[in-house]
Formats: sequence, structure tokens, C-alpha cells
Amino acid sequence: MPIVPATADKLKLAAAIQAAMLVTSGMKLGLGTGSTSSRLIEVLGERVQAGLEFVCVPTSEATRKQALAAGLRLTTLDETPHLDLTIDGADEIDPILTLIKGGGGALLREKIVATASDRMIVIADVSKKVQMLGKFPLPVEVVPFGVTSTRNMVAAMVREIGCEGTIRTRLMKDGKPFVTENGNLILDCSFGRIAEPFELAAALRIIPGVVEHGLFIGLCDQALIAGPGGVEDIHAPDLG
Ligand code: A5P
Repeated sequence: MPIVPATADKLKLAAAIQAAMLVTSGMKLGLGTGSTSSRLIEVLGERVQAGLEFVCVPTSEATRKQALAAGLRLTTLDETPHLDLTIDGADEIDPILTLIKGGGGALLREKIVATASDRMIVIADVSKKVQMLGKFPLPVEVVPFGVTSTRNMVAAMVREIGCEGTIRTRLMKDGKPFVTENGNLILDCSFGRIAEPFELAAALRIIPGVVEHGLFIGLCDQALIAGPGGVEDIHAPDLG
């Protein structure tokens, strides 16, 4: 049965409440971006009111503003380069916790912050859980210079590893290109299925105009996924 928005919001809150319980005093925390992370910030604001002390690095301007308004203590990755934990949302989560992220366009900062953290926990409603990644278009952040060449190069490189589909430059409602907080563009790549995320990531990485892609491989340690029956707690397999 499809999840209706009102229910999805309750589920996001349920996952956020469970994740917020894992934040302890003195922690250095990475704060994700998106509607689920937004629920987390609300809950963390309540915990700060109740006396919990920790510092946070936001992954976007929207998160920074909301966190500030909620009374959270902010720092930057330059002031605090090593974090204990990042909690963030995701667009798709596969069984071994490989993720697609970047639906909100914040994937580059989200990946930098998650990589600077000892642990990453993803919070989501059950609609984000998939057997295979790729139904959600994979966001790829590219520099504006030569975007058409870069898009053609992405199409050619991914075709070699069996990924085909529409690659579109993300636009805003007014038809202008969506520009990330890093001054870049996003290519949304609708491949339908991504059978080999690792190979795809490797292919994208060597294209000069590609800054980063939304595949999070080996970064997520734990997922708290809320469904009608409760919050499922999934841990990433130990791949040695
Ligand atoms: C932001 O760029 C994304 O990576 C979000 O984390 C992701 O799109 C999940 O967003 P929601 O929690 O709004 O679904």
C-alpha cells in the first residue's frame, strides 16, 4: 500500500526520535538535509532545551538556519574536522545500506560531512527501502563549465557498464538550472536500476567535470527505517 504524505511525516518523526536518543552529551554531530533531517532537528531542539549539550555541523544552509532557530550549537567542519556521528536522510536505501542521496541537492556537503564522521546513521520512512538502487534518479553534481560535454561523457561512461536512461540537468520551477550551494549543477540520472553501484561510482569518479555523485557506498553504518509496524534498526554488514 502506498504511504500517504501525512503518514510518511509521522514515520519520519518516529525514525528521528529514535536517532535523537543516540545523541549523547559532548558529541560532535553532522546534521543532514531534507524533510526527515528536519524532524530530527526539531527533536534535538527539545533535547537541548532539556539540557543535552553537543555541537553540530550542518550540511546545508536550510539545515543551518533551522538548527540555529532550534537552539542547537553550531560549528563548522574547519573548526571541528572530526565528527562522532552524522545523522541524515536518504532517497533510497538498499539491503547493505548503500544509499542514493542528493534529492535535495546537498549531496556534496552531506558526503564530506558523513566521511568526516566515525559513524553515519540514516533515518527514513519505509518507502525509501529498496532491493536494488536506481528507481530514484541518481543525482550527480557537476561544474557548470562544459556541462553538455560532461553530460555526454557521463552517458558514454555509464553505458559501458550497462546503465542507460535519461540524464537531465535539474531545473527549478521557473525553468532555470538548479544551482547547488557549491555553485554547481545537478544531473539527475534515471537509470531505473543500478546493479553495480561500486562500478558506477568508479566510472563517474574519473570524469573531470563530475564533482561528486549521490551514491553513498560503505558510508552508512546503521539505518532506522520507520514503518507502520515500528522502527526497523538495520546495521551494515561488516565487509572486512
Ligand atoms: C538532500 O540532498 C538529500 O540527500 C536528502 O537527505 C534526501 O533527499 C532525503 O530527503 P527527505 O528526508 O526529504 O526524503
